[in-house]
Amino acid sequence: MKGIILAGGKGTRLNPLTEITNKHLLPVGREPMIWHPVKQLVSAGIVDLMVITSTEHMGDVVNSLGSGRRFGCEFTYRVQEQAGGIAEALSLAERFANGERIVVLLGDNIFEYSIKPYVREFEKQEKGARVLIKEVNEPEHYGVAALDEKQILEIEEKPNKPKSNFAVLGCYMYDNQIFDIIKQTGPSARGELEITTVNNIYIHKGQLEYSIISGRWTDAGTFQSLNQANRILLESDNKILQ
Ligand code: DAU
Repeated sequence: MKGIILAGGKGTRLNPLTEITNKHLLPVGREPMIWHPVKQLVSAGIVDLMVITSTEHMGDVVNSLGSGRRFGCEFTYRVQEQAGGIAEALSLAERFANGERIVVLLGDNIFEYSIKPYVREFEKQEKGARVLIKEVNEPEHYGVAALDEKQILEIEEKPNKPKSNFAVLGCYMYDNQIFDIIKQTGPSARGELEITTVNNIYIHKGQLEYSIISGRWTDAGTFQSLNQANRILLESDNKILQ
């Protein structure tokens, strides 16, 4: 199993903080934000990691993360030239994945507890994909899952009228069908290849499973959520709880 961290995008909602640096290098607790997804993947036993970020900030990201020795992992780096969406960024990892299963983390997602138990569930899964979900107060800001007791029926990206309070979080697990599935998708109204479109294709195949996570979670893409991310990681001293 290989890990992929997506740290591209423009981070415009955090201007002026992101005028001169990458969102994922901003401090969260006592460390740069991007250290958190690295530690999460290592905590799940995934140590072969690809980091994808924009041309502008690749140098600083490499300066911060290095070879991976301090985290107990190995990094491969890849540039995303345009912020063409989460699925577009992920498509750049096809050769790196080399037919293995992958766990993808969005670089601005902070999970209080280790993702390890959910990765173990994915390992037991015969095929397909797995997403993590959690009830949130303002689901309209996220991908939202309509679900029954057994399965997710549909995911809507930032809907005006959410069909549930369950947000789909920025941790996605895929089998080797993922890259062919991304190739079947086209840009959304906002001009991006959406990860939600990809996940809906897995749903139509009957191959998307989910775990409801315990503990706190936030993204860190707005001033309010960055503040919440800071609170969570300051309390734990940037440790990931097991
Ligand atoms: O945080 C969870 C949410 O993340 C999900 O609920 C949504 O379904 C999903 O679309 C995403 O929503 P956001 O609008 O918050 O995504 P954002 O554009 O902020 O991108 C999230 C991360 O993905 C960002 O930290 C860096 C990476 N990214 C994003 C884009 C657009 C890239 O690496 N390349 C990109 O082109």
